[in-house]
Amino acid sequence: MNLKTVDIYYFSGTGNTLLVVKKMRDVFVEKGTEVNLLKIEKSSPEDVNLEHTIGLGFPVAGFSTYPFVWEFIESLPQTKGTKIFMVDTLGGFSGGIVGPLREKLKKKGYKPIGAREIIMPPNIFYIQDDETCKKKIEKGLEKAQKYALEIANGTSSWGRTPVLSDIMYYISKGLIGSWKWRSQHKWFGFKADKSKCNQCGICVDICPLNNIEMKDHPVHGYDCEFCMRCVSFCPRNATPCKFNYKGKAYRALRANAFLNDE
Ligand SMILES: Cc1cc2nc3c(=O)[nH]c(=O)nc-3n(C[C@H](O)[C@H](O)[C@H](O)COP(=O)(O)O)c2cc1C
Repeated sequence: MNLKTVDIYYFSGTGNTLLVVKKMRDVFVEKGTEVNLLKIEKSSPEDVNLEHTIGLGFPVAGFSTYPFVWEFIESLPQTKGTKIFMVDTLGGFSGGIVGPLREKLKKKGYKPIGAREIIMPPNIFYIQDDETCKKKIEKGLEKAQKYALEIANGTSSWGRTPVLSDIMYYISKGLIGSWKWRSQHKWFGFKADKSKCNQCGICVDICPLNNIEMKDHPVHGYDCEFCMRCVSFCPRNATPCKFNYKGKAYRALRANAFLNDE
């Protein structure tokens, strides 16, 4: 397959997906393809160049993905045969995304050429020890490399599991939809610890939903979709995560490396 230019639209909360799409970019570039990595939170669907091959990269969340990622995908323009592939990263199980996403994109006129789910360290609930995370990342990046080669060689595919994936799609849509409820934010919402915070403002800058406002300390609004960025990249660990075991946070790369990529 001749991939002249690939535009990969991606979102990454804690760095796993960023590492994966960067690995894929390196493979494509080696094959002579021009690659643009574009952040979903800073892109407009109407600006997508339909002459290029499109890639979508995102984390699995609630067996699906974040509502704002869905919004971006659902707002992609109609086309006639633009090639598209997806890659998601996950802790273990998704179920409600690969098949339904393929159907949505096909209806818009895209030609799905590949889908892959890549297991990376979980960034929620139970954060594994550094060594285990490191091994998982290495394995995940090997898979990303293989997948990119398949796409470049024209041997990748985008399958679906009918019925099961559709059922999972509706269950997960309900689940992620409930993240907008104010009650969820009351119980699970992030709150900065004033005694640790030095008002550096990093959390305000990196929140993909512009949901954090700096007053005498960062104040989180009700638009949070629990991507974990503010928790993971706070230099003072000042934003604890209530639902992670012992409040531990995960990040796939150093804060500096992530922030310089911003
Ligand atoms: C709110 C939330 C929900 C998640 N839901 C799932 C899930 O349903 N299934 C799963 O396998 N992993 C789930 N994960 C784990 C992430 O998908 C996984 O760690 C991913 O690689 C993170 O990518 P990122 O670092 O690019 O944000 C969830 C993580 C978060 C923060």
